[in-house]
Amino acid sequence: MDKAVIWDTLSVDARTHLVDIQVFGQIDSTNLESLRQVKSGKRGTRLIVAEAQSDGRGRLGRSWMSPAGGGIYLSLIRSFGKDNKPIQSLSLVSAISVLKVVEALGGNSLQLKWPNDLLFQGQKLAGVLLELHVGIAANDLVFGIGLNLSLSDEDKSFIDRPITDLRSILGQRPDDSIVVAKIVNVLIENILIFENQGFRPFSEIWNSYDCHINQDIVIQVGNTRKVGKSLGVDETGGLILQMEDHRELVTGGEIFSSLGKI
Ligand code: BTN
Repeated sequence: MDKAVIWDTLSVDARTHLVDIQVFGQIDSTNLESLRQVKSGKRGTRLIVAEAQSDGRGRLGRSWMSPAGGGIYLSLIRSFGKDNKPIQSLSLVSAISVLKVVEALGGNSLQLKWPNDLLFQGQKLAGVLLELHVGIAANDLVFGIGLNLSLSDEDKSFIDRPITDLRSILGQRPDDSIVVAKIVNVLIENILIFENQGFRPFSEIWNSYDCHINQDIVIQVGNTRKVGKSLGVDETGGLILQMEDHRELVTGGEIFSSLGKI
């Protein structure tokens, strides 16, 4: 990973907003490091990247396999005012941003799985873990993004779901520094749109790539399972679930394809 290449590839907008870029060879987790820095009083929009993580964190308490050279592991830190924007929908905005970068690199047949997965032919390519630090005047949000670049078959065998990487999709391994910068460019652009307009400009884009839209799904919310048909997301990023006699807006949880009777 080359900090100078990252900087050279950043857009004018991204350079204007970023006050710091840190590249680590190995770290426990870029999200954990971001939270430590926020708690120690560091402010402003900052980027933390690592070549490997020993304690990469995924959603719902899972771990994120992060071997050296295997993927992009980055966290972008941004402060948000305490208004009423549904910031959980920034998870969807982040996944859309990674999708757009992979498409620009030549990837196609990409899909999104609510609320944060990027898939290629049903296999997971990238995930997003948003972590919030609540402060007195503002909240700091950590956008943690993991994008598989080149995982060995052995690495893949440790993961309990179908996964893929950019090398398999593009036929070659792209330069990691360039991919990092391109993700940051699109992510910052989309965060700025979100700050002005909320999730509304993104709902149609999300629904056009949603892998479960108009399908029967099971969604696990805490200890409860809800069964219904996914109607995609609304203008807040919540998932509209058509159940037997009513509609519900689901704001968190994990989707499984319908198993029929459960
Ligand atoms: C998921 O479960 O799909 C989310 C995975 C997020 C992984 C990334 S890698 C960079 C950042 N640091 C972490 O510890 N996790 C996120």
